[in-house]
Amino acid sequence: MELHMPPPRRLALAAALFAFSILAAAAPDGKQLYATHCAACHGDDGNGDGLAAAYVTPKPRDFTKGLFKIRSTPSGEMPTDEDLFQIITHGMPGSAMTGVPFLSGEERRALVAAVKDFIKNKPAGTPKPIAVGPEPPASPATLAEGKQIYALMQCAKCHGEGGKGDGPSAKDLRDSAGDPIKVRDFTNGVYLGGPADRDLYLRFTTGLDGTPMPSYADSLTDAQRWALVHYVQSLRSPRREEFVAPADGQLRAARADGPLTTDPAAKAWDKAADFRVPLTALWPSPHPLVGVHVRALHDGNKFALRLEWEADSPVRPGVKPEDLADAAALQFSVKGTAPFIGMGDEKNPANIWFWKLARQADTTAKKPAVSDMNATGAGPVEDQPPAQQNVTGRGGWSGGKWRVVFLRDVQSKDANDVPFAAGASAPVAFAVWTRAPDEKDALKSISTWYRLALEK
Ligand code: HEC
Ligand code: HEC
Repeated sequence: MELHMPPPRRLALAAALFAFSILAAAAPDGKQLYATHCAACHGDDGNGDGLAAAYVTPKPRDFTKGLFKIRSTPSGEMPTDEDLFQIITHGMPGSAMTGVPFLSGEERRALVAAVKDFIKNKPAGTPKPIAVGPEPPASPATLAEGKQIYALMQCAKCHGEGGKGDGPSAKDLRDSAGDPIKVRDFTNGVYLGGPADRDLYLRFTTGLDGTPMPSYADSLTDAQRWALVHYVQSLRSPRREEFVAPADGQLRAARADGPLTTDPAAKAWDKAADFRVPLTALWPSPHPLVGVHVRALHDGNKFALRLEWEADSPVRPGVKPEDLADAAALQFSVKGTAPFIGMGDEKNPANIWFWKLARQADTTAKKPAVSDMNATGAGPVEDQPPAQQNVTGRGGWSGGKWRVVFLRDVQSKDANDVPFAAGASAPVAFAVWTRAPDEKDALKSISTWYRLALEK
């Protein structure tokens, strides 16, 4: 998989995790939670140089600099605790920053404090959010006004005339760390700070600190900024589906009428609830995958999940079966904890079920399409021995969609497998690899942790 880490550094990480866990107290320990869930990207010292940082673009934030993009406070000021709390909860769609909604509110507040602790030269005083007045109703007039302002303010220089992020200046932009930065593409409806009208209003009013995206608090009136919000929202492609995670984080597997199979087109799936799980890509792409449909069922003996996502035809002239990039993985936590999203850690191994089109398509290799694997962090993922391979599955492509089924016995005797039981639940996370026809490499998109519950 995409995240690799050389063994000596993994040992150091494990040692650090162990040291923190000894200190764990009853109240949430923000430093320990940070070490578990954040340090792999943001670094032990919060300066953005975690071991996984090399594999994501844009780069994890260096907290010591005290520059935050998503704020309700004026340009150049610190975010409020609530701003940080929201980012830590929901992540930043369009970047590798996945939120931790599965942690308790108290735990997420402890993480806010841990992030703030890293900031050097923190200004004194409590940051104050700007007041957001009521939103004027959208009308053809506000849309027309927004379009005019978009032209007047030369948004198109960066964002392009149609808002696809392809303006003439877009190629050469850098952030304050000197890294190349991509301009947001409005047609996808994916926003770091959320897609609501109020979110966009705040971005126009406060800017995104550390990026070329300025604040328009001084150059545009309140009404003009709202008009701009309405216009930018109108550029969203109506074909882009919205993926909104279930509010309680639960994905429920109902009892199927008959025995389950690996057939992705089986009728049984039509009756299963359709959960729309948001995904975020680990690096920028003009064709980001923003979510995956997840359905789950069990028949008492076996349980199955079906993932469905939009994808171009897997038939690629001249591409050998072993080079086909489409793939999907389910991640479970063997101990039932929700550890680091990058495949757990030494004490909390991950059980990975990995479907690869390349394996399914390569009939000469005689390998099953799905493998049952384990990992202990963002390092190598290893196949379980053949005798322990107890997950089957199959993918089918039709009508611009992949549908892939994963199937296993509810009970497993294997200590490396995630234990399941009817009436119980366990953490699950998702990853999907897609490749657009015009791209050389597959794009990996990931979710945060959910809970899969098998109904009684
Ligand atoms: C897989 C890597 C990864 C992990 C794990 C991760 N982050 Fe991030 N984080 C990022 C990236 C990448 C960015 C920058 C995104 C951008 O600037 O567009 C970021 C940005 C942030 C920001 C800046 C928000 C802003 O308004 O600018 C905060 C705060 C943050 N992360 C907190 C956390 C916390 C707390 C955790 C652990 C619970 C965490 N992150 C885990 C990758 C990660
Ligand atoms: C100098 C180039 C530049 C100009 C001019 C500019 N932007 Fe941006 N804008 C950016 C960049 C770069 C980003 C992406 C920042 C990031 O990903 O961290 C961005 C991000 C955004 C976002 C996304 C916020 C989010 O939550 O993801 C919106 C909305 C936006 N710009 C709207 C506008 C509008 C409307 C205008 C004109 C009033 C404008 N921008 C002018 C460069 C620019």
